[in-house]
Amino acid sequence: MSKVAVITGGNRGIGLAVAKDLIAKNYNVVLGCRNVSKGKIAQDYLGNNATFLELDLSRPSSILHFVNQINSNFSEIDVLYNNAGLIYRQFELTEEGYESMISVNYFGAYRLALMLLENLHRSSGRIVQVSSLSMYLAREYELESLHSNKQFSPSSRYNLTNLFRSMFALELENRLKKTSISVAVAHPGVTKSRQSRPYEVKKFKKSFYTYFSTNIQTGIAPIIQAIEEDNVSAERVYAPKFFGFYGQPATMQHNKPVYNEELRNKLWTFTANELNLDL
Ligand SMILES: NC(=O)c1ccc[n+]([C@@H]2O[C@H](COP(=O)([O-])OP(=O)(O)OC[C@H]3O[C@@H](n4cnc5c(N)ncnc54)[C@H](OP(=O)(O)O)[C@@H]3O)[C@@H](O)[C@H]2O)c1
Repeated sequence: MSKVAVITGGNRGIGLAVAKDLIAKNYNVVLGCRNVSKGKIAQDYLGNNATFLELDLSRPSSILHFVNQINSNFSEIDVLYNNAGLIYRQFELTEEGYESMISVNYFGAYRLALMLLENLHRSSGRIVQVSSLSMYLAREYELESLHSNKQFSPSSRYNLTNLFRSMFALELENRLKKTSISVAVAHPGVTKSRQSRPYEVKKFKKSFYTYFSTNIQTGIAPIIQAIEEDNVSAERVYAPKFFGFYGQPATMQHNKPVYNEELRNKLWTFTANELNLDL
């Protein structure tokens, strides 16, 4: 029987490339996309083994609707790949009053993973969380001021959301130890993929990224390995072998704060309280 993989932000870039690769491996893929026409185009492009469902990770009602649709259409999902994410050029708040990058890149992934646990449990499924080399650039943070525009910068906020993604995945793995659900983290290096990032970087940085970024197959290979490998752990992150930029997939250490249990617990408690959602 075909496995089922749910991919957030599957309508373009890395999410779409991962979907195509998994379909070639006989998976059925659910694309969670916020834009209906883009989602339908991706579904048509991928063919019969792709199903598009609407999902806006910045809106809790949309996440709830998405989860209900998954649960009524798929009794068992094997993989949740938390891929969707972006960089906003400016400080923006969601309808709920959360800073937008925290809301989509981190809170959205947390919410969706926790809300799909029961379903994933039935198939001894796997959660794969995307992260980024930018997690190594994250600076000290104050959870209390996450949703204020005091000292906000788009790139440092993006870095922080990636640190949070890694911390979340490792903490989730610890909290799911007694279950059959596995957790993995992967990053694609720096991959040409219409990433929203170049909007806010200056011209010289743009050409730096364009020059150094790898093709999409190099970028998705660590993600596919995190999805497919038998025994995985969120203790290390799947990434291209050489400096996290080039080469075949390998695993590397996260940024140091990820291994700080106290920081992880603090982040978890803060998130659970903000979202009123815990294990
Ligand atoms: N490319 C890289 O080098 C790189 C490196 C490290 C990490 N990453 C991470 O990998 C992931 C994919 O990157 P990419 O390069 O493929 O980016 P991308 O081309 O910009 O694609 C991002 C995807 O996320 C979706 N998305 C954005 N906001 C959403 C929301 N509120 N609800 C649901 N979906 C939403 C986008 O939908 P729309 O099409 O509607 O905007 C799009 O499908 C991102 O999380 C990124 O942080 C990328």
